[in-house]
Amino acid sequence: MSQAQKKSAATQLVHEDLKPNIGNRILNSKQELLGGALAGELRELIGRRGVLVFPKINFTDEEQLVFTRTLGTFVPEISGNDVLKISLDKQQNKNADYLKGSLYWHIDGTMNRVPVGSAILSSKVLPTWGGNTEFCNTYAAYDALPEKRKQEIDQLRVVHSMWVSQLYYTPEPTLAQLEDWMKFEDIELPLVWKHRDGRKSLILGNTARQVVGMNERESAKTLHGLREWATSEPFHYAHVWSVGDTVMWDNTGTMHRAMPYDPNCGRMLHRTKLAGEEPFN
Ligand code: OGA
Ligand code: MN
Repeated sequence: MSQAQKKSAATQLVHEDLKPNIGNRILNSKQELLGGALAGELRELIGRRGVLVFPKINFTDEEQLVFTRTLGTFVPEISGNDVLKISLDKQQNKNADYLKGSLYWHIDGTMNRVPVGSAILSSKVLPTWGGNTEFCNTYAAYDALPEKRKQEIDQLRVVHSMWVSQLYYTPEPTLAQLEDWMKFEDIELPLVWKHRDGRKSLILGNTARQVVGMNERESAKTLHGLREWATSEPFHYAHVWSVGDTVMWDNTGTMHRAMPYDPNCGRMLHRTKLAGEEPFN
């Protein structure tokens, strides 16, 4: 065994809890993270805890890509770029309008059968005000429901529509605008995601439109009530950014949103993504 291999074999993951039900701060060095020896432990931890924070790790884009590739199957953004600039400034991101939907609780990729597995954000420029990223653990939120409520919702299915997520911030679209959003087909997903390992998480968020077979009022109460529950304090973590922080979330068992900020303030996050490994079912 070479010196380098001996060193990496001995590398231990060093971390501490952010909140009892969600989030861990990782305290290993950049070199240890890029080496890949911690990937298995990081994957296990994020699956249980939902969010990992790497304070002021200061990844360059190249390092973020190397790190991302140690953890699974890297997927480029739809735009074809390896790294997406998350900014509400149209000069930085021509699809900035769609990103306004990220100001409301969501899971990335609910319009696809197999959503993104994990996503990784690194802060480059801070907002002038607001702009925290909030997360909630939907495994923990499901687990903590009363047994009776679990039984009531276990078999429910929900229609998700891209266009309802856009109505949150453009409530009076033109017909042409609405039709453009409607180019995304609706998709029916389970309310409770039954994962291969037997765990269960909630599929909610700004695309969730209607519980199948339920009247509209009861459906709205179900979807908003469960969103309120899942995003409540015990399951919630708000990340206050410092430049150089990297935050990663398990997109299969969390929701997230950006808190409002000035769209022209220059706030900039760089994102990479890992392929999903499991369909919503
Ligand atoms: C995302 C996202 C939130 C933020 O990158 O998918 O929702 O705080 N970002 O910008
Ligand atoms: Mn998002």
